[in-house]
Amino acid sequence: MPPTPPYQPALLRLLHGAVAALVPLAWLSGVVALANHDRRWIRLPAQVPGDWIDIHGTVGVGLWPLALLFAVYALWIGRARLRQPANAAALIGLALAVASGKLMQEDWLRSGQLDHFPYHLHLLAWLLISGAVAWHVGAVITRGGPALANSMFRLQVRDNDMPRHWLAQLTRRRG
Ligand code: HEM
Ligand code: HEM
Repeated sequence: MPPTPPYQPALLRLLHGAVAALVPLAWLSGVVALANHDRRWIRLPAQVPGDWIDIHGTVGVGLWPLALLFAVYALWIGRARLRQPANAAALIGLALAVASGKLMQEDWLRSGQLDHFPYHLHLLAWLLISGAVAWHVGAVITRGGPALANSMFRLQVRDNDMPRHWLAQLTRRRG
C-alpha cells in the first residue's frame, strides 16, 4: 500500500492558501510599482501602463487582515511547526512586509519622496520575504517531497475537520 499522504487542517490550508496566493500578487505589483516610480533599482525602457501603486495597495488591503489571522493561527495552534526555522522565517518575512506596508503612504512614490524610513524597511522586507519563502518551499520539498508540498493545496477535507469543528480545534489546550 502507498503511504498515506500528509494531511493539513482545513483552516490552516484556507489561511495559508489565501496568503500564498496574495503574496506573489503583492510581490509582482510591488515590483512594477518600483520599476515605474523608483528608477534607482529597476530601469525599464518605458513605464508599465496602469496605476500600479493603487493595484498594489488594493492587494495589500486584502492581504494584511488575512496575514494577521494566519499569524495568529501559526503562533497559536501551529506553534509546533514554527520550530522548523524556514517556516518561522516565512512568517517573519510576511509580518515585516505587511507591517512596513501599513506604514507606507501611497503618495510618497508618486511625488518622488524615496527616502522615508518605512519605504526602505518595506523594500528590505520585500527582499527578506523573497528569500524566506524560497527557503521555506525548498525546506518543505527537502523534508517531505512533493507530497508534503501538495498537502497544503489539496482540497479534500476530512469529516472531522469541517468548519463546525474549527472552534473546538482553536480552543483545545496545547502543550
Ligand atoms: C507566501 C508564501 C508563504 C508563506 C508566508 C508561508 C508561510 C508558512 C508558515 C508560517 C507555515 C507554518 C504554519 C504554522 O505554524 O501553522 C507554513 C507551513 C507550510 N507551508 Fe507555507 N508559506 C508560503 C508558501 C508556501 C508554498 C508555495 C508552499 C508549497 C510548497 C508551502 C507549503 C507549506 C507546507 C507543506 C507547510 C507545512 C509544513 C510543516 O508541517 O512543517 N508554503 N507556511
Ligand atoms: C512581497 C512583497 C510585498 C508585500 C507583501 C507588500 C505588502 C504591502 C501591504 C500589506 C501594504 C499596505 C496596504 C494598505 O493596507 O494600505 C503595502 C503598501 C505599499 N507597498 Fe508593498 N508589499 C510588497 C512589496 C512592495 C514593493 C517591492 C514595493 C515597491 C515600490 C511596494 C510599495 C508599496 C507602496 C507604495 C505602498 C502604499 C500603497 C497604498 O497605500 O496604496 N511594496 N504593501
